[in-house]
Amino acid sequence: MPRILTGITPSGTLHIGNYFGAMRPAIELQAGGDAYYFIADYHSMTAITNAQERRGYTQGIALDWLACGLDPAKAVFWRQSDVPEVCELTWLIGSLTPMGLLERAHSFKDKTAKGIAPNFGLFAYPVLMAADILLYDTNIVPVGKDQKQHLEMTRDIAIKFNQTYGDTFVVPEERISETLAAVPGLDGQKMSKSYGNTIEIFGDEKVLRKKIMGIVMDSRTPAEPKPDAEKNLAIQLLRLVAPKDVATDFENRLRAGGLGYGDLKKALFEHYWNYFAPYRVKRAELVANSDYVEKVLKDGAERAQAVASKTMARALQHCGLR
Ligand code: ADP
Ligand code: TRP
Repeated sequence: MPRILTGITPSGTLHIGNYFGAMRPAIELQAGGDAYYFIADYHSMTAITNAQERRGYTQGIALDWLACGLDPAKAVFWRQSDVPEVCELTWLIGSLTPMGLLERAHSFKDKTAKGIAPNFGLFAYPVLMAADILLYDTNIVPVGKDQKQHLEMTRDIAIKFNQTYGDTFVVPEERISETLAAVPGLDGQKMSKSYGNTIEIFGDEKVLRKKIMGIVMDSRTPAEPKPDAEKNLAIQLLRLVAPKDVATDFENRLRAGGLGYGDLKKALFEHYWNYFAPYRVKRAELVANSDYVEKVLKDGAERAQAVASKTMARALQHCGLR
């Protein structure tokens, strides 16, 4: 059975782009494989410098994933920093990682181009990510296109280590979902917490209704036919949260003319709110049971640790540290 691994950085509140782009596919995969999912709290160090905030986002992500269907009986779910060997491995593989490779990383180039003062953590981030993947003998890493380069780097690093010190790491396969369209945000750009255009998975009803009702549309009258109905932002979002026939019906009515944007947005809000209703109930139960959540993460860390210590022992032995 192939081992599947992915990480989620706790640097904000999760939105429906994260849900449809990353969470739902990962949760679907837990049934068919050997799934390892972790909260990448070490990775949040370069994004957040407030301790309370880090704890809050980490706890929030644990609740969100468990509420949305991550099953700890099927998937190993843990907090990255509970298995600190990943930092030790970062040093081992970082010592074989060329500067040039890291200098070419888009994530690093984008951040510095935006004027963010780079630090060692930002520069070394792909090495920590490679360590995340290699430490757990990962076969498949399901991530979005934005992470493609990091996976290529991980493969390069694994191959170089294996060539230098003998067979140590499983070289992971790429599984980039090219087909999965990016979920658009409230302004039509890709939904992202950095663009402030998100619809949160869990949030206050009034605030979210206001956000959705505030989506800006064009000035065509309700009666006018809209031949480009499939491109309408509310229709695209409705496709994610409403049954197929319902979304198609709205699209046809918009195309024919006679459906106002206000009514369309109202329907979008209702379907969105209903889609996540069962998860909201589950999340409230989990909030009331924080000991359980902590226990899930601790158990997960133990299971992850069992794999990590074997890989680490192998790596230390092969490079002569033991
Ligand atoms: P953000 O852009 O909000 O900072 P992240 O970069 O933390 O989101 O993304 C976490 C995961 O969610 C990644 O696997 C990413 O591919 C996925 N993801 C984020 N935004 C979207 C989106 N708009 N559509 C589809 N997937 C997304
Ligand atoms: N860098 C990933 C992101 O920004 C999160 C991540 C950290 C990750 N380590 C990982 C993803 C290992 C897959 C495998 O989304």
